[in-house]
Amino acid sequence: MAELAINGGNKVRTKAFFAWPHYDERELKYVEEVIKNRTWFAGMRGADPGTKTKEFEKRFAQYHNASHGIACANGTVAIEIALRAAGVGTADEVIVPALTFIATVSAVLQVNAIPILVDTIYDTQCVDPEQIERAITDKTKAIIPVHYGGFVCDIDRIIEIARRHNLIVIADAAHAHGAIYKGKKLGSFGDAATFSFQESKTMTAGEGGVIIANDDELAEKCIQYRSCGRHEGESWYVHYVMPVNYRLAEIQSAMLLAQLERLDDQLKRKNDNAHYLAERFKDIDGINPVPGDGNTEVNGYYLYLLQYDKEKFAGVLRDKFVEALNAEGIPSHIGYPWPLSKNPVFQQVEEGPKGCPFTCPYYGKEISIKDQKFPITEKICSETVVIPHEVLLSTRLDMDDIVAAIAKIKENAGELL
Ligand SMILES: Cc1ncc(COP(=O)(O)O)c(C=O)c1O
Repeated sequence: MAELAINGGNKVRTKAFFAWPHYDERELKYVEEVIKNRTWFAGMRGADPGTKTKEFEKRFAQYHNASHGIACANGTVAIEIALRAAGVGTADEVIVPALTFIATVSAVLQVNAIPILVDTIYDTQCVDPEQIERAITDKTKAIIPVHYGGFVCDIDRIIEIARRHNLIVIADAAHAHGAIYKGKKLGSFGDAATFSFQESKTMTAGEGGVIIANDDELAEKCIQYRSCGRHEGESWYVHYVMPVNYRLAEIQSAMLLAQLERLDDQLKRKNDNAHYLAERFKDIDGINPVPGDGNTEVNGYYLYLLQYDKEKFAGVLRDKFVEALNAEGIPSHIGYPWPLSKNPVFQQVEEGPKGCPFTCPYYGKEISIKDQKFPITEKICSETVVIPHEVLLSTRLDMDDIVAAIAKIKENAGELL
């Protein structure tokens, strides 16, 4: 008789976990206000005084201890805008981790710069500062550390390297809303940090993004790049810099104001549940929560990351384990399947102008991302089990189901061979 749900046995859990995206009366109220006041557009530079967007930018920046917030269409263009505003462009090299979503790199490509991928640290799953240092050349202009899953990178060390080499640091914090590192919120580090509000993220309006920064000039440039290259107080039809519309809509900002109001409670619940799970997993050999950088005091927990050791599960492959876990009623997935370099977009770079920026004559160097190796990232991609953040927003009792499901799979691992 099969025990495991994947083979027809009973599921450990039949109830759903915390429903995501989450909303309450606040979203409905603020969105209704926008609809009824007929200001659905935030203004010619993207955040007129009195708009929800302006209010959201102010509150989000203050919350993260930053002076400025610049809301925009999504987390990908937030990185692009920050790069443009910081003066990163054609043939500049930008160092990014090999373990990230494509957006980190596509933003670099959008400004015609060259992404230089580097490897990760196993225990933090964040970019390795030693590898950053080794990758710096006379063309390097910026570093984009990614606070993967909500785990904050060794940001102090990265900033120290950047300062020594006169480089810009734009943190991709798409996963790390509200994270606290060494007692400080993310607005305290680097030149800028960018966030995503796409539906799966820990604050969401379906889509959306924001940049936070402290430098007035950088913030003003971000505003220009966010809204058609316009200058304050000038005509609608005068455009100074790359004139694209990357604005956020008022309805989205209304939703984000509501989402921000409950962020602290949600972070607390997730961090408490993660600590509880870490204790419980001590009894299951072969499944270990990613420790992260010990200096992350509040983890953004967009992803709850587990390291899976197949040898302790009778040799059952990670992908099969994840299938079995889902069958038991525990939502989970494998995360990034490979280092970014393995994506077709890097494996099949065209020759000539169509291959730009890699083939850009201004670059004057040859680079082939496709042959690069990232052994730690490879290992991470083959071992990680990801539990999405909304699961951690459930109750303490619900956490016991996760532990029970994993223990059950371990006990019956032979069924999966
Ligand atoms: C690490 C990372 N950076 C940037 C982004 C881009 O965000 P968006 O989807 O809002 O463009 C994402 C989205 O998943 C992400 O995971």
